[in-house]
Amino acid sequence: MDKVISAAKSLKGVIDIPGDKSISHRALIFASMATGISKIENLSTAADCMSTISCLHSLGVKIEKQADSTFMVEGKGRFGFTQQSNILDAGNSGTTIRLLSGLLAGLPFESTITGDKSLQKRPMKRIIDPLSQMGAKIFAGDNNKPPISIKGQKLTPIFYTMPVASAQVKTAIMIAGLLCDGTTTIIEKYQSRDHTERMFKYLGASISTAFPKIEIRGGQLTSADIFVPGDISSAIFFVVAALLVKNSNIKLKNVGLNPTRTGCLTALKKMGANISITPDEIRNEELLGTIEVSSSDLKAINIGAEDIPSMIDEIPILALAATQAKGKTIILGAEELRFKESDRLKAITDGLKRLGASIIEKSDGLEIDGPTPLIGAETESYGDHRLAMTMAVAGLIAKGETKINNFEAVNISFPEFMNNLQMLIN
Ligand code: S3P
Repeated sequence: MDKVISAAKSLKGVIDIPGDKSISHRALIFASMATGISKIENLSTAADCMSTISCLHSLGVKIEKQADSTFMVEGKGRFGFTQQSNILDAGNSGTTIRLLSGLLAGLPFESTITGDKSLQKRPMKRIIDPLSQMGAKIFAGDNNKPPISIKGQKLTPIFYTMPVASAQVKTAIMIAGLLCDGTTTIIEKYQSRDHTERMFKYLGASISTAFPKIEIRGGQLTSADIFVPGDISSAIFFVVAALLVKNSNIKLKNVGLNPTRTGCLTALKKMGANISITPDEIRNEELLGTIEVSSSDLKAINIGAEDIPSMIDEIPILALAATQAKGKTIILGAEELRFKESDRLKAITDGLKRLGASIIEKSDGLEIDGPTPLIGAETESYGDHRLAMTMAVAGLIAKGETKINNFEAVNISFPEFMNNLQMLIN
């Protein structure tokens, strides 16, 4: 499906942001590992989370939809999973394959987990190494890419220093840690999103956290009701749209404000953005609140390796903001972006160049000069949801029309994106 976006005059209105994808995956998997029934409200119903549900069905878990985004999960207990199918399809979802590998590593059967063409290109050595050290038997091709076969074993705890900043890898080890006797210790390089730590605490795990160290004792989770906050990684497209489109003022309600995720808001504020953040409440250990944004004149900033984990998924849309900021924005230490749903450093450079932006791809980052007027052109989603939405926001400020090919990629994280955007366009 192609999408044509025209320049917008202003954005105005108040919208609710759908549930966070990262937290939704965790809610589904951890509720399945718990004893008892959990109700999950505001779950993301995007394709990635449906992939997690389908894999959990293959492991014998009963998950029932009660209303639009409310689901009931019947926990199996940490070792109670059964094998309904020995091939699990994680679709496009890196979080699904990496988190479930941590679980499969300790279950008493052999399964193969794979995904679509994009997922089959993504690196798995980062989980294979620590899980193998814990005793798992994992078979992958020479390139350590999916499909991977996992023969579950009785696992033993490890002390692991993370070579990359990755919440997916950290979580895979923590899930495996729950299946061990004894304490698993993880040392992080940079602090990555801590949703797992918070939800483990909420579900009664024995865990201690003091950056850079996480200690998790093997044991059983207990069911509880979970409310999933709105996804900051979805909200950010409207935040940047309202900053860049003249005469705009919008409010985004119900957004997750976990400090390990809000680096993008901090960066935009440093660029001079008019953003006000009102924390509203804490639910299941996660802060949520309201973000108000109005059109702003932006200036360039420097972003370094230590900043990247808290804005890892927002770099494409921040790059678009930088094309409209005065001066040279330099982003460094972002080589992890090459291993996402697309090579995001390459894709964002190509996409924004097609609209006339001044952007240079570096081995580990980007250099962007601004402000540069954008001109509508034919562009791509690169099969990547975050690229599709970034190019759509670019289309709102580009002169004329911007055509985005294969726009359906948005369904991976934010199927409501176009409807929500239409509600804000005046
Ligand atoms: C995620 C962690 C990040 C992020 C991804 C979701 C998670 O990946 O980019 O979209 O839910 O843990 P990495 O762990 O590879 O950094």
